[in-house]
Amino acid sequence: MKSYATDSYEAAIERTLFTQSQIAETIGALAARIARDYAGQPLLVLGVLKGALYVTADLTRALSLLADGPAAIEVDYITVSSYGNSTRSSGEVRMLKDTSENIAGKNVLIVEDIIDNGLTLQYLRSLLGGRNPASLGACVLFDKPYRRQVNVPVEYTGFVAPDEFVVGYGLDYQEKYRNLPYLAQLRSSAFTE
Ligand code: PRP
Repeated sequence: MKSYATDSYEAAIERTLFTQSQIAETIGALAARIARDYAGQPLLVLGVLKGALYVTADLTRALSLLADGPAAIEVDYITVSSYGNSTRSSGEVRMLKDTSENIAGKNVLIVEDIIDNGLTLQYLRSLLGGRNPASLGACVLFDKPYRRQVNVPVEYTGFVAPDEFVVGYGLDYQEKYRNLPYLAQLRSSAFTE
């Protein structure tokens, strides 16, 4: 029997937008493209926390299964935040934790769970681009291109997400729902602000 908390948690989900298997298939396809483009070269995969925790883990493991991919893969994380606990972006990106490794001379691939207005990725591309990487690219699993406020390049995109408040697969509402293995639309009744 489910607890009240579990029932309430699941009842807040309006519908599944992309299933766990659709996400796995798309990450496999992204990995294949990335493997081709970086074949024989070292690659530093830089996940943007917290949201990109799952996509970074799954993408790097998918890359490891491919025969002719990058020569060696390093994984690092950077933590930034622009939304805080709000559903709206503050418009100001804050660095909470920098990379652990020096990126100079490396092929760096930024990995994001979602791009919305684009300010976070613009901030990261500018910051990291100033540190003399050998190359800099970005892979984003979920894209809301119709929400963009700045024009920022994205080399690898997984899905176009609908214009709904989405949670799961790394994306949260007030720090909850990140652990759902699929992307879901949250019921408007679940919002407390
Ligand atoms: C989310 C997401 C991206 C950013 C994208 O992070 O992970 O980093 O927003 O939005 P933008 O294109 O409008 O800038 P958030 O600030 O919510 O932090 P989190 O990853 O810790 O949830």
